[in-house]
Amino acid sequence: MSVAPPAGNGKVTVPSILSRKIRSSDGFPETKPKITCLTAYDYPTAHLVDQAGVDILLVGDSLGMVVLGYESTLPVTLDEMIYHTRAVRRGTRRALLVADMPYGSFHVSLDESVRNAVRLVKEGGAEAIKLEGGERRIELIARLVEAEIPVMGHIGLTPQSMNALGGFLVQGKTADAARQVERDARAVEAAGAFAVVLESMPRELAAGITEKLRIPTIGIGAGPDCDGQVLVFHDLVGFTSGHTPKFVRQYANLSAEISRAVSEYCDDVRGGRFPSDAESYHSPAEQGQRHRRVVGA
Ligand code: KIV
Repeated sequence: MSVAPPAGNGKVTVPSILSRKIRSSDGFPETKPKITCLTAYDYPTAHLVDQAGVDILLVGDSLGMVVLGYESTLPVTLDEMIYHTRAVRRGTRRALLVADMPYGSFHVSLDESVRNAVRLVKEGGAEAIKLEGGERRIELIARLVEAEIPVMGHIGLTPQSMNALGGFLVQGKTADAARQVERDARAVEAAGAFAVVLESMPRELAAGITEKLRIPTIGIGAGPDCDGQVLVFHDLVGFTSGHTPKFVRQYANLSAEISRAVSEYCDDVRGGRFPSDAESYHSPAEQGQRHRRVVGA
């Protein structure tokens, strides 16, 4: 398996992400560029996104819904995550490569959970892993950090808990719920995570957590005050169908562009306009005749 390129030359690393925390330890705001993170599930996307300068490439288990056609992230297997992480690894030079631990891969014994995370690093080429859950993941996060695997936490709306949460709902809306989200954030930090994703929660709650934590917060549906932002790549470029959450900003409409291109191709093939003569190979003898025709011989 190819491994991450050596640090230096602008390579994004776990320490460099930690150093991007917007607030310094004395509490004064610092002007640092916010952290950018996007999902990628394959080689060409990873290559483009990495070259465009995104800091973190996340092989999210959202790949289950986005590229595998599952109804949720729950069916995604560890082998599927490894397969996609390997492809993204091959396209990534500068960005930090983080892979999600899928549902079921860390809801087992601590030993087995660590073994599963090690597979994402050894076989997938991930430089860090992400896992969902707050307080109840303290022990596991500490064990992974002890095993030299950097961990990104993920709290608030955790899609793997959709059955327990009753759907994809904004979290932390009541005072009690907000306190729980804050406890989760502190727990993840205390356990040794180097960053935490805050998903679907009121802007004010995410801002408060961001101010209190020493590790960077990466928001999705959590307002603009986080230390960084993450989006699903396919949402950003409009390569999805169905409902788009309110927090998505679509910077392109690839679905429309792909549909147009494919219809045009079908029309051209059916109408005999593709391929043209210029798009065809010619035998040497015919080529000679064509040249003679051109010079009028
Ligand atoms: O799976 C995923 O893509 C994610 C991000 C949306 C944070 O967890």
